[in-house]
Amino acid sequence: MYPIQILLDEHKLVERVIKLVEKVRSKLKKKKEISAPTFWKLVEFIQSYADVIHHSKEEDILFMHMREHEAELSEKVWDQIGVLIDEHIQGLDLANEMHKAIREYQRGSTSARKRILRAVTNYVDMMKAHFKAEEDDVFPAMVKVLSKAEKDNMAADFKRFDKLVGGAAAHRRYEKIVLELEKELR
Ligand SMILES: [Fe+2]
Ligand SMILES: [Fe+2]
Repeated sequence: MYPIQILLDEHKLVERVIKLVEKVRSKLKKKKEISAPTFWKLVEFIQSYADVIHHSKEEDILFMHMREHEAELSEKVWDQIGVLIDEHIQGLDLANEMHKAIREYQRGSTSARKRILRAVTNYVDMMKAHFKAEEDDVFPAMVKVLSKAEKDNMAADFKRFDKLVGGAAAHRRYEKIVLELEKELR
């Protein structure tokens, strides 16, 4: 279980950010102002932490290890992995769309609010279903087929990857960013 716990811990941090994206959505629906720098920080978290730190671990390490167990895993799980990879791309596309729309919003565009609303709604809906598929189906399937040695290797690969992207200090920095965002979007 323990390398998967690393991914589940990352999910907890991203889930806090999904709640913040929902807050932005409800503010926009109520026609309340949103602070562009705060929203920008939120989008940057999605682009860097959710996409680079978390999704890369799944695609480059977890799913690669799963390939070695192709015969033991069901067709449903393989189909889900294909969808999950597509959704990682869609998540980044939606964050990029939010980024562009905020720039227009700052310039006073009247249609930018609608663009942001569409992107945040799609992001929240997609990510909730995405985490559910990973936590209910894909991660448990992986835990079942991995040997103790493979789990150790996977955890070591995760640690090696984390070092490349800033190690524990980077994780602490992202946690601090989420705390700041929670205060700013209260
Ligand atoms: Fe994922
Ligand atoms: Fe995930």
